[in-house]
Amino acid sequence: MAQGNGVILYSGDLQNPTFKDASLPRHRHPRSFHKDGSKRRFIMAACFIVSLLLITAVIVGPTLAFLTSGSSNRPLKVAAFNIQHFGRSKMSDTTVANHITEILVRYDVILIQEVRDSTGSSLKDLWSRLNKTDDWGFVASAPIGRTTYKEQYVFYYRLKLAHLLSTYQTPDSSDVYEREPFSVEFEYFSVTPGTKKQVVLMALHSRPTDAFDELDHLPTSIKSAASHFKGAGGVVAMGDFNADCNYVSSTKQLQLEIFKDNSEFTSLIPDSADTTSGDSNCAYDRIIVFGHDIRARDAKVYNYQKAMGLSDDATGDISDHYPVEFQLH
Ligand SMILES: *[C@@H]1O[C@H](CO)[C@@H](O)[C@H](O)[C@H]1NC(C)=O
Repeated sequence: MAQGNGVILYSGDLQNPTFKDASLPRHRHPRSFHKDGSKRRFIMAACFIVSLLLITAVIVGPTLAFLTSGSSNRPLKVAAFNIQHFGRSKMSDTTVANHITEILVRYDVILIQEVRDSTGSSLKDLWSRLNKTDDWGFVASAPIGRTTYKEQYVFYYRLKLAHLLSTYQTPDSSDVYEREPFSVEFEYFSVTPGTKKQVVLMALHSRPTDAFDELDHLPTSIKSAASHFKGAGGVVAMGDFNADCNYVSSTKQLQLEIFKDNSEFTSLIPDSADTTSGDSNCAYDRIIVFGHDIRARDAKVYNYQKAMGLSDDATGDISDHYPVEFQLH
C-alpha cells in the first residue's frame, strides 16, 4: 500500500480500488482537490469506524458483561407499575420525572403500563435518566388497543443483571383482551452461584369492565406462553389486572383459576393489599406465578407515598397506582 504525507490515499471505484502515493506528481487532478478529497474520505471513514466501535461498545459492553460474568450476589428485583397516562406531560415535569426515576431505580427489571406517547420521546427521556445510574436496556410492545386509544407495555432492565432473549405477543383471535398480554423472556442470575435461569414476564393491563373475562382467560394465555418459551422455568404474569373492588369482587375472585388455592397458579399479592395510591383500597395490581422453576419471594406493594414522604398531590401526580414487586432467587 502506497503512502504519502503519512496519509493513505486511494482512488477508483469501490469494486476495484487502487492505491496511489500522494507524493507522486498528479496530472489529472489539481493537487489540493485530490488531497482534500482523499483526506476527507479518510476522515469520514475513520469517524464512521470509531462511531461504530463506540456504538458496539455501548450496546455489547454491558451485554457481554452479563454473558461472561458468573453471578450476581443478590436476587433479581422485578416490579410492575401502572404509571397512569405515562407520556410527555409527565416526563416534562421535572419533579414528577425525578420521582418516577427514583422509584424505578429500586428495581432491576420494570414493567411500565399505561404508556401513551406515539412519539416515544418520554420513553427515551426516561431511558436517558435511568442510564445516568446504570446501563439499562429497553423493550416495548406495539401500541395495543381496540380503538384509537392505545397503550404500550414497556420493560426497562439492567443490562448487567438481565439479558433479553425474546418477546411474544399473545394472539387473540376471539378478541378477549382489550390489550393482549405481551411477554418478554429474560435470562438472569439465580442466587445459586454460577447459575443462570430463564423467566418469562407477561404483562397485562386489563380493561376494567372486562376484567373478570380477561382474567378467566389468562390461565390459557399463560400456558401458551409457557409452551412458546420452552427453556424458561416459568411465567410470571403481572400488572394492573383491575382484579378487585367494583371490577372483580372478592366473591368473583374466588371463581378465577389464578386465585384458587390448589391451582397451578400462585398469586403473590393478596386481596387485602392496596395497590392504589388514592383514597380507594383495592388490590388491582397482581403477580401470578406459573411454572416448576420459579423462586419468587418477598412480593409486596411499594407505597412510595409513605417511603418518600410525599404529599397527596405529589403522589397523585405520579400515579393512582403503586408498583407491585417481587424478587427472583
Ligand atoms: C441507554 O444505555 C444503553 C446501554 O448503554 C444504550 O444502548 C442506549 O442507547 C441508552 N439509551 C439512551 C436513551 O440513552
